[in-house]
Amino acid sequence: MAEDFVVTPWEVTGDIDYDVLMKRFGTAPIDDALMARISKYGEPHFMLRRGIFYTHRDLDILLNDYDKGNRFYIYTGRGPSGNTHLGHLMPWIFNKWVQDTFKVPMIFQLTDDEKFLFKDLTLHQTTDFAYENALDLVALGFDPDKTRLILDTKNIETLYPLALAVAKKTTFSTAKAVFGFGNDTNIGRIFFTAMESAPAFLPTQIEGKETKVLIPCGIDQDPHFRVTRDAAPGLGFPKPCMLYCKMAPGLSGGDKMSSSDENATIYTTDTPKQVKKKVGRAFTGGCVSVEEQREKGGNPEVCAVYKYNYFLFEHDDGKLKEMAEKCRRGEVLCGECKVALTQKINVFLENHQAKREEAKELVDKMAFNGFKW
Ligand code: TRP
Repeated sequence: MAEDFVVTPWEVTGDIDYDVLMKRFGTAPIDDALMARISKYGEPHFMLRRGIFYTHRDLDILLNDYDKGNRFYIYTGRGPSGNTHLGHLMPWIFNKWVQDTFKVPMIFQLTDDEKFLFKDLTLHQTTDFAYENALDLVALGFDPDKTRLILDTKNIETLYPLALAVAKKTTFSTAKAVFGFGNDTNIGRIFFTAMESAPAFLPTQIEGKETKVLIPCGIDQDPHFRVTRDAAPGLGFPKPCMLYCKMAPGLSGGDKMSSSDENATIYTTDTPKQVKKKVGRAFTGGCVSVEEQREKGGNPEVCAVYKYNYFLFEHDDGKLKEMAEKCRRGEVLCGECKVALTQKINVFLENHQAKREEAKELVDKMAFNGFKW
């Protein structure tokens, strides 16, 4: 039997079976009928077509409401524990598509408090990372008039009443059951779910009427939002609707791109040389010798270079398929794929880094309630 896997907001280990995970969490698949429905609003993003965003809670209910002429908000976030890498951008790129397709406002929460409580970092460090991470989000081109950045320690006046309401509805026994907390857990961690819940209720408060929220994010955040959704009705707020994606893979062949392996992680500020070196060392599905690979072919399923194309860099389904087939037939060698990927990443980063510079002005404009970084 395959080794068991663990997916929580703070730990992702093992070989994740995403269908099993969906059943464990009790979320719904994005079936053909729902895909057909989404297609009515615009060409579905490749992350939907490929099943990267693959499961949801109440997306159909959200669309029913939207069809009646009610605007929703999107809400997502980032725990600022380090510099932004390409894996972080993956769900954000999807959020931008949602904003553009449905013309909706977006709230982005930066949880400097969370990473202070859960990591060996000072509050000063997590707040600095939040600024750096915000530049990357803004660089992706979110509408500056419709997008607001929330920094927990700066926007606490707005968040605190909402977080308190959630905290009052959530028992320690629920927190323990959902997150596995024990007697040695610091009490800030126990409260934190209330802080991540708060922005989900903010749109209703801002609009002064019931306003639905869609949260497109990694499926590892589901434990938080189960708590949020359970608390919502008793507080007079609509339950947030969820749209979840799989974790972006790392270059070493693991299931989740992780900052703990710096050499297998491409940061948004990496130079072309660094990218070349990291991609050059990536884990692939190739054979030990050229002769063997020409004869037997490679295995794109396990190849980090192929996965990068699949999750981020090859948007054309036809070209992606061709890439996999050529690999299996031994017509292309790992070195060639690495060169091609390096090229794509460097073209992307050159543009992103320029936008990131421009973002330095916009982040002030997009700060919720005009807070100062
Ligand atoms: N806890 C998330 C993280 O560690 C950050 C976060 C806050 C978030 N609010 C969110 C993620 C809403 C997704 C959706 O990255």
